[in-house]
Amino acid sequence: MTHSDPIWQRKDLICIEELTRIEVEAIFEVARSFKHTMERSVKKLPSLRGRTVVNLFMEPSTRTRIAFEIAAKRLSADVISMISNTSSLTKGETLKDTARNIEALRADIIVLRHPASGAPNYLRERVGIPVINAGDGAHAHPTQALLDAFTLLERFGTLEGKRITILGDILFSRVARSNIWCLSKLGAHVTVAGPSTLVPDGFSRLGVTVSHDLRQALEGADAVMLLRIQHERQTSTHFPSLGEYTSMFGLNKERAAWLRPDAIIMHPGPINRGVEIDSELADSNRSVILEQVTNGIAIRMAVLYLCASAAQRGGEMSQPFPV
Ligand code: CP
Repeated sequence: MTHSDPIWQRKDLICIEELTRIEVEAIFEVARSFKHTMERSVKKLPSLRGRTVVNLFMEPSTRTRIAFEIAAKRLSADVISMISNTSSLTKGETLKDTARNIEALRADIIVLRHPASGAPNYLRERVGIPVINAGDGAHAHPTQALLDAFTLLERFGTLEGKRITILGDILFSRVARSNIWCLSKLGAHVTVAGPSTLVPDGFSRLGVTVSHDLRQALEGADAVMLLRIQHERQTSTHFPSLGEYTSMFGLNKERAAWLRPDAIIMHPGPINRGVEIDSELADSNRSVILEQVTNGIAIRMAVLYLCASAAQRGGEMSQPFPV
């Protein structure tokens, strides 16, 4: 893709639901090119040379923050990572003021993780520079869904007609919501499964199958995506004990045998070994969990590149992509 053929016109990436399938596929096309460059001995590209990316993370993160930082550095951007407890947010400064000060400091892109659903959407209206959502409350985690779909596409070639089961704490999961939108857009049949307290029937309104029967949810699935219990967002208990959850919905070797023989096991991380998944299974050759992490770099390179390009309003990037 070049600026003479700009399918991608957005300065921000907030959520998957507002993207067209063509836009999602445009991100994958760019990510594939960037992934290819990751195999070279010199991995750095000059595409964002002279730009500054600020990672503003107001919730804990390992994979997303590091992947965005690596992605920006691979594109030759300067990167500043700010975590909330070391910023002036602790002195009462608002998110809007923080972001406007980051813009006044001539940063070029803000990557935001925030505990409040809607925070990145609120911010994009209030700053002129790109805002990229790195996870907001239980609402959306668009780059996670993109890297998950990218990993599935690498394995299966297409998601048309594929059966993907998302198992676990769906109610409090931004990963589940973004994946439901993304996988459905790409033609997959999505089942969400787990206890009824964490997988309300209302999710069927998003066009997915809701199942509280683990065997039914796993039989014939091409992939299962496990989600941990997100205690940090739960204000009351949704099942008697973790032990009981594991005994009813944890993935173990016996239950994994219900999947298709070539099915893959996914997890966005962090894993709670022995709770939602047996440790042995997480490390088995059916698991693509670390492939997902690696693909997170290429996807975030693509998103940073495309949003920065769009923000230039038709101007050419300083260097052609990709070299
Ligand atoms: N998958 C994910 O968002 O992981 P982190 O919270 O470690 O970034």
